[in-house]
Amino acid sequence: MPESLNVLLGVSGGIAAFKAPEIVRSLRGNGHSVRCAMTRSAGAFVTPLTLEVLTEFPVYREEYLQANNSGEELHISAARWADVICVAPATCNTLARLALGLADDFLATTCLAFTGSLLVAPAMTSEMWEKEAIQAHVTTLQGRGVILVGPVVGPLATGETGMGRMAEPDEIVAAIEGTRNRGDLRGRTVLITAGPTHEALDPVRFLSNRSSGKMGFSLAAEAASRGARTLLVSGPVCLPTPHGVERIDVTTAAEMAETVEKLAPEAGIVIMAAAVADFRPESAFESKLKKVSGPPELRLEGTEDILTRLGEIAPNALRVGFAAETEKLESEARRKLEGKNAHWIVANDVSRSDIGFGSEDNEVTVFRRNQPSVTIPLQAKRLVAGRLFDLMQQELEGVEAGMATTGG
Ligand code: CTP
Repeated sequence: MPESLNVLLGVSGGIAAFKAPEIVRSLRGNGHSVRCAMTRSAGAFVTPLTLEVLTEFPVYREEYLQANNSGEELHISAARWADVICVAPATCNTLARLALGLADDFLATTCLAFTGSLLVAPAMTSEMWEKEAIQAHVTTLQGRGVILVGPVVGPLATGETGMGRMAEPDEIVAAIEGTRNRGDLRGRTVLITAGPTHEALDPVRFLSNRSSGKMGFSLAAEAASRGARTLLVSGPVCLPTPHGVERIDVTTAAEMAETVEKLAPEAGIVIMAAAVADFRPESAFESKLKKVSGPPELRLEGTEDILTRLGEIAPNALRVGFAAETEKLESEARRKLEGKNAHWIVANDVSRSDIGFGSEDNEVTVFRRNQPSVTIPLQAKRLVAGRLFDLMQQELEGVEAGMATTGG
């Protein structure tokens, strides 16, 4: 993928369209070529002339398509020109048309003809965003590898504050630029664990934790989009499998350990993003515990520490652990780095309300052996995943270059 990208910015008809010129300016300022395609209603919010002046290229519109008598099929040539298509803002209607594969305007038709990275940045009211129909379309699109940027919580055009605001132009530009790395993990196998584990107490109850699995699933989506063979071992979560990912569902820490043990020898990178239970009931009660019998006495036993064990079963893999802490972030992370024989511990502070369990965003600090720590500032988990893989890629290339020069 070239350093500078050809970006087709699709603008659909929502109030956030007024930010499209800023996205164009920022992309062009970073050296990318940009063309714009507007849906029929986008012109009510931003003028084609504005986008034409900023892109120095005619805006693709229905009228433009019809006016062109050259015989050139513009949706085909635009799709072949673009390295990336980003639809920002993506309205409900446009999300639905993309999910259904409709070809009822230039933008939708071009998206169908396009084989590269497609990003959508939805913008709508909270009520619309939460509608089952919209969520189903978003799930469909993500399942096909479409990258979702936002929406975020913030002030909406209705005057209220809530979920549905379009991601900021900077975040959209970063996500577009993140697609440059597509393919850089080709030939590598990445094993990722995600989510919590459930440790049964009786047939209806279990011990677990608040992990949503979102960080691990974002890592898997990013690894697959960069061309890695991606194996995702997931505890019980309610998340769709990212496009191109091989997913193995497990329930308990013991099942996760067994599955990881089987798969890890194949992997060049192993990332333990799962929140694995440290303790489980010594034995689960065979029938449901009854209230009338009073509080049960629970005897717990330790589970195997999977990350620690990886040193033996995947000695050559880059081994990355996660640590969700509420205090003493650095000392805890460094203790785990040594104690678990990991190469990296990616730590985050779950006592913060903005990046606690289940949040869409994260801010992490990567603690590494013999190298300075790196903080990845607050951003969408998928973008954090992108930055983490950039760093991992650098580290692996450094190790491989060292091996080549020493003949190792
Ligand atoms: N981990 C693991 N196996 C376990 C427990 C944890 O592989 N049985 C991994 C996690 O997936 C994570 C890292 O170890 O990558 C750190 O997990 P964490 O729960 O923070 O570590 P603990 O050693 O359990 O420490 P704490 O006392 O803070 O819970």
